[in-house]
Amino acid sequence: MNIKGTQTEKNLIQSYEGELTGDALYKIFAEKARKEGYEDIALSFEKLGREEVVHSEVFKKFIGEIEIEIDIENLRAISSKTILNLRLASAGEYQAYKEIYPKFAKEAEEEGFLEVARIYRSLGSVELRHSKILKGLAEQIEN
Ligand SMILES: [Fe+2]
Ligand SMILES: [Fe+2]
Repeated sequence: MNIKGTQTEKNLIQSYEGELTGDALYKIFAEKARKEGYEDIALSFEKLGREEVVHSEVFKKFIGEIEIEIDIENLRAISSKTILNLRLASAGEYQAYKEIYPKFAKEAEEEGFLEVARIYRSLGSVELRHSKILKGLAEQIEN
């Protein structure tokens, strides 16, 4: 079945871009954490970022080579203190798990792309794990 021009294709492109943006954002958050003396948190952000790159590769398989532009300046503007970065990142991961990827899974199913739907469901649970890791790190700093 051809994915060209479908809602699923749009969702895959958005997800691909989102995962790579996540990696770029986590690199910025890692830099900030390192400056604040949280080396372990910096390493966690970098590790999660690498997992987002893996996710982007999964999506890319369906859409092929595409050009995307990540606005690094905009991401730098989002970056705040590490505690707030952790909270923001955790909320974003949770939203991917709870809202975005289930919606994309459902739309893929409706269009008959069952493999894509399965991937959205399985990556959704990975994003939930990410959310919990980030929340745990935030709680460590607070206590
Ligand atoms: Fe991801
Ligand atoms: Fe994630």
